[in-house]
Amino acid sequence: MRIAVVGMGYVGLPLAVAFADAGVDVVCLDSDPERAAALAAGESYIEDIPSAELSRLRERLHPTTEAAGLGECEAIVICVPTPLTSEREPDLSYLLAAGESVAGVLRAGQLVVLESTTYPGTTREELAPLLERGGLRAGEEFNLAFSPERIDPGRTDFDVRTTPKLVGGLTAACAERAQELYGLICDEVVPLSSPEAAEMSKLLENVFRSVNIAFVNELSQLCDRLGIDVWEVVDAAATKPFGFMRFNPGPGMGGHCLPVDPFYLAFKAREVEFQPEFIELAGKVNQAQPAYCVDRIERALGEAGVALAGARVAILGVSYKGGVGDTRESPALRIIELLRERGAEVAYHDPHVPELPDQGLSSVDLEGALAGAEIVVLVTVHPEFDLPALVAGAPLLLDLRGATRGLPAAANVVRL
Ligand SMILES: NC(=O)c1ccc[n+]([C@@H]2O[C@H](COP(=O)([O-])OP(=O)(O)OC[C@H]3O[C@@H](n4cnc5c(N)ncnc54)[C@H](O)[C@@H]3O)[C@@H](O)[C@H]2O)c1
Repeated sequence: MRIAVVGMGYVGLPLAVAFADAGVDVVCLDSDPERAAALAAGESYIEDIPSAELSRLRERLHPTTEAAGLGECEAIVICVPTPLTSEREPDLSYLLAAGESVAGVLRAGQLVVLESTTYPGTTREELAPLLERGGLRAGEEFNLAFSPERIDPGRTDFDVRTTPKLVGGLTAACAERAQELYGLICDEVVPLSSPEAAEMSKLLENVFRSVNIAFVNELSQLCDRLGIDVWEVVDAAATKPFGFMRFNPGPGMGGHCLPVDPFYLAFKAREVEFQPEFIELAGKVNQAQPAYCVDRIERALGEAGVALAGARVAILGVSYKGGVGDTRESPALRIIELLRERGAEVAYHDPHVPELPDQGLSSVDLEGALAGAEIVVLVTVHPEFDLPALVAGAPLLLDLRGATRGLPAAANVVRL
């Protein structure tokens, strides 16, 4: 069997590797020649995929920047970015460009699956007409389905195989084809009645997280006013074995998905004149969290007799989550920007992010970061961080993740 994956990023590359591992030949199409060249050289640029995996599977992975080879594939899976425009509206330009590449080579009997997160209706209203330009009818002469990607970079307890896969086909036959395809690499495939239900399910999962993170972030601010330790409260509530799911407060929401996807749903809601209150409120609260964290930095410094303007602040961890180097929408970037606006001198240490070109900063070594700082702010906790050593070495440590709460009490540690 031969399939194609279009878009070899955080989603597409692990998917291609999973199919190759299952004995499938995979045409790996990426418009970025550097990525195609790296794959051809067996060099991985995605942390969860070791280069050794690419070398092991090199006979079955076929990197390319040309769509021509897609015509020979039984299935084509599209995993390109779905970001926002500068007006914070869905930017389908990558998806439409990928759709055009596929349309140019599409032949009867192929299965096309969209995995990129998007609003309900995209597969049917945007992708199908594009693919039909060559004269073939979606659902009749070729199959079309939506199957959301649920990958969580850096996570090791669930992977492509053990995370159930949703599929929504344009027709029952489309769903069946998609189910067969993913049955090769997933233990459980869950069929839905339509692409729209599958598109909406992905947004429900992500907006659910966004709303709950916003709620617990707001609660952290209220607890602070009331002099209650929010971590003690969350730990306590989490002992309930039913009816409660833990979410932790933090510096705000980052990554390619959670800060972006709610806008996709809000966009679709506006089309049907529906005002989604929860989504917009959660976005507002989460976006305000970095500014709240900067206020907390200022307060912690003030209590130590240091003004924020002119203070030397060391940020530990600038990626949006621990164990990965992805800085997209990371709240750390906003915290750095706000600190600089308020006159602080900022340095950062992150073993996964050597450079922040837009900020003109490079990661400094940990000793240097601790030695020169008046306050150290733990924004993202990487597995490499030695927390007892950090507590011992920092003059003042503001822990925005509650990571130090298992350690012996220390006078120099303040928590969100
Ligand atoms: N990263 C995640 O954790 C995650 C999780 C679930 C879902 N998703 C969704 O999956 C989709 C892809 O996200 P990602 O994180 O893998 O993005 P990414 O930026 O890591 O990778 C996308 C790849 O697509 C390539 N590309 C762009 N346009 C192309 C085109 N026209 N033809 C061929 N290749 C093209 C890019 O060069 C890049 O290599 C998005 O819709 C995202 O919301 C991401």
